[in-house]
Amino acid sequence: METTIEKTTTHQTVNAYIEKNKDRFLTELIELLKFPSVSADSKYKGDVLKTAEYLKNKLQEAGADKVEICPTPGHPIVYGEKIVDAKLPTVLVYGHYDVQPADPLNLWTSPPFEPVVKNGNIYARGSADDKGQIYMHVKAFELMMKTNTLACNIKFLIEGEEEVGSSNLDNFLMVNKERLKADVVLVSDTSILANDVPSLTVGLRGLTYLEVEVTGPNRDLHSGVYGGAVPNPIQILAKMITSLKDENNHITIAGFYDDVQELSAADRAELAKAPFDETAYFKDLDINAGEGEKGYSTTERCTIRPTLELNGIWGGYIGEGAKTVLPSKAYAKISMRLVPNQKSDKIMQLFQKHFESIAPKSVKVKVKPHHGGEAAVTPSDIPAYHAAMFAMKQTFGINPIPVRGGGSIPIVAAFEKILGLKTILMGFGLDSDDIHSPNEHYGLFNYYKGIETIPLFYQKFRELSK
Ligand code: BES
Ligand code: MN
Ligand code: MN
Repeated sequence: METTIEKTTTHQTVNAYIEKNKDRFLTELIELLKFPSVSADSKYKGDVLKTAEYLKNKLQEAGADKVEICPTPGHPIVYGEKIVDAKLPTVLVYGHYDVQPADPLNLWTSPPFEPVVKNGNIYARGSADDKGQIYMHVKAFELMMKTNTLACNIKFLIEGEEEVGSSNLDNFLMVNKERLKADVVLVSDTSILANDVPSLTVGLRGLTYLEVEVTGPNRDLHSGVYGGAVPNPIQILAKMITSLKDENNHITIAGFYDDVQELSAADRAELAKAPFDETAYFKDLDINAGEGEKGYSTTERCTIRPTLELNGIWGGYIGEGAKTVLPSKAYAKISMRLVPNQKSDKIMQLFQKHFESIAPKSVKVKVKPHHGGEAAVTPSDIPAYHAAMFAMKQTFGINPIPVRGGGSIPIVAAFEKILGLKTILMGFGLDSDDIHSPNEHYGLFNYYKGIETIPLFYQKFRELSK
């Protein structure tokens, strides 16, 4: 009985604080979203640093200690902590303040770095991925500090290179093992199923990203003088790419599926319980049908199965009008999403070998590796997971459903490997937030719901860790 009263009081304290500070919470997020912290484009290096400084100040104002901007060979990491009592559990909060490039700019209804609130959403690049979500944690932390309810120790690790593969973060984890000591990692960088269907992500896919170059003749040629006798690299690349999947949309790369962990029928049935409206999904995307691996549902195809996607393809003349040219080169950017147990490096090698083996001898091919990362499965049987379940149940009114995510957060596997830490993926976005797309937005409902839920997580995690 006593604990029930205490819980209610805490939830009330939380809601009262949010109510009083709502407008400022939004104003500050808008400020954060104005920084064009595009990690992929070196032209924004200064803006990325300013974003880190903004977060540093906000963490400090909220009451964090040892707040620091840690330089890396790339973009800096923001660190801050509050140790209330060494005997209490410690939560490492991870997120990223860098964002994807905003282009194509002409498809945005308002400029990507001039945030606009419209129909209950805040529109800006990074609003959902991940600035809006990491800032919920900063504000929840402020709330707990100001109301004297911080129930656990907190360490913040906010990086600026997630969208470009977190290439300097592994090293940071290795060098800072002691400083990053914690009991669990908490991340809000994923989605819920719907605003009235909360969910917790229990798995992420891995990634292998590469670029290919096919060279035919050593220079661009007149397509009439040479066409018909000389290999056209665009046509050959198109053929090669087409052959990477068979008629069942199975990937044909030798060995590609070797390490894939097949899910049991029971596991698949469990995941299939999550509500999904396929008709609405197709309608939203203006497609008449789905397209994917035979034998798997739409949800399975984009979560528990590995895939291969073309991200870009170019070559030859693409300017106005016509130019009769037989190009020398053709290019494509290709990504493969991986599932647990597949290894990103191994898949890269298999791809390279396969791609070279299917190239006709008339052309030369080059495979250029980009970044990669491993898939992750996060546990649903540890105190922190139960705490997240409990917190969401309190704030959404129903139990969250476990789901697998289709995207990748490569550092999650590294948290386990380097720091020995499990991760809880308690995201509050929606798949329809248009992350990485024009008009990215984040619901104000989701922003405030996150701020409301996070303190309850700490409260419960402390209780369950006793
Ligand atoms: N937050 C996303 C990942 C995500 C989104 C996971 C939605 C689950 C649901 C993250 O910022 C991201 O975009 N990751 C990249 C990988 C990275 C190596 C560029 C991705 O998934 O493409
Ligand atoms: Mn993200
Ligand atoms: Mn992203």
